[in-house]
Amino acid sequence: MEPYRIKVVEPLPVTTPQQREAALKRVHYNLFDLRADEVTIDLLSDSGTGALSAAQLAAGMAGDESYAGSHSFYRFRDTVRDLTGYAHILPAHQGRAAERVLFSALLSPGDVVLSNTHFDTTRANVELAGCQARDLPCAAARDLDSHEPFKGNIDLETLEKTLADSGGPRVAAVVMTITNNGGGGQPVSMDNLRRTAELCRRHGVPMILDAARFAENAWLVTRHEAAYQDRTPRQVAEEAFRLADGCVMSAKKDGIAHIGGFIGLNNEELAQKCEVLLIATEGFPTYGGLAGRDLDMVAQGLLEVTEPAYLAERADSAGYLADRVRAAGVSILEPAGLHAIYLNAGRLLPHIPPHQYPGHALACQLYLQGGIRSAELGSLYLGKEDEDGNQVSGPPYELVRLALPRRVYTRSHYDHIGSTLERIVKAADSVHGYRIVEQGPILRHFRAKLRPV
Ligand code: F0G
Repeated sequence: MEPYRIKVVEPLPVTTPQQREAALKRVHYNLFDLRADEVTIDLLSDSGTGALSAAQLAAGMAGDESYAGSHSFYRFRDTVRDLTGYAHILPAHQGRAAERVLFSALLSPGDVVLSNTHFDTTRANVELAGCQARDLPCAAARDLDSHEPFKGNIDLETLEKTLADSGGPRVAAVVMTITNNGGGGQPVSMDNLRRTAELCRRHGVPMILDAARFAENAWLVTRHEAAYQDRTPRQVAEEAFRLADGCVMSAKKDGIAHIGGFIGLNNEELAQKCEVLLIATEGFPTYGGLAGRDLDMVAQGLLEVTEPAYLAERADSAGYLADRVRAAGVSILEPAGLHAIYLNAGRLLPHIPPHQYPGHALACQLYLQGGIRSAELGSLYLGKEDEDGNQVSGPPYELVRLALPRRVYTRSHYDHIGSTLERIVKAADSVHGYRIVEQGPILRHFRAKLRPV
């Protein structure tokens, strides 16, 4: 059961099918453009969407809004330092700001960054620095149905080969994303992290954690990695941070905060370079684009997020939703993680070809039939077509992510998702695809306009 009770509630917007149909048409079938008050259950992201605890709100009230050297910063810094062990802690307003500052300081044009899988902003920030972002997911990640517990791992063999290849461009960093969001929210084992760290050390390349969901990763390690079954999630997390040379963190996920992030580093020279960039673009190093109250709420959130009762319930409720989805007849990317359930839309809607976006079609059905907002992770997000609309490249899978905000929705909300999917499955043959009528040059899924076919 939830290890908390509800003190403040927020009404859910309730809409009619006619209103949803009109809304979807108005936004040209792009769910990002809906107004949030047109959405009943919003599973677009688990980022910045969590519910604050009474202790976080209280900490926020005590926030110190001095321009420099606020009490809030020192509480934040000490909490992050205790957790991560890094000497230098720089706040940033969110994860991608931390990435931009770190990569601007660490990378030179032409460098390569390797990762188990770069999150899309991480990739964009590597590329904006004139560098190449290369993903090396482990082989098990390719099989959506496999129940292997650590499908977020990096492929150690390819990593070793790439690091040893002196003929190629310089590898400037290895980024380990825990959990692996781009790879279906799958965790990375401590064994994989340790071996990666050893390879990095041998080749003089820094290993950086993208720690947005470090606590969820730690929880899954305690459940599935024999050597860690007697450790607490907090102990696992502390060890993970200490294996790396530094981290970037979006505190909007496992900080359970609405905004916030940070860079943690041991290397003083690099930290100083980051500090200069931080002052120029984010803010003075004792606030980094955040209010004092935000720093205090993040600090408190970072303490709450590793509590075993909280993580156990988070895993259990995600597992409950996964069971409902499977029972409705929809395959998911297995095993179910904690921050999201990924629906296999390609398998559910085989009559819709990739260039008519089966994932998008399912996401639109979830909205039309249940007022549920989700995110397509398939050919609309990652594919490319020629002028005639034929696909020239695309992802191997057509997925839809149901991201789960922290402490926000209950099992009866998840029942609503299950019954909505049951209705969609019954009439799956009649679901139609979409075609793009207008799109931008990059990150097209955010702004594209579509039309049913
Ligand atoms: N790294 C990972 C693994 C992420 O999932 C995200 C954001 C970021 C970095 C960037 O952090 O949003 O604070 O700037 N993921 C969100 C999501 C947006 O919905 O998965 P940010």
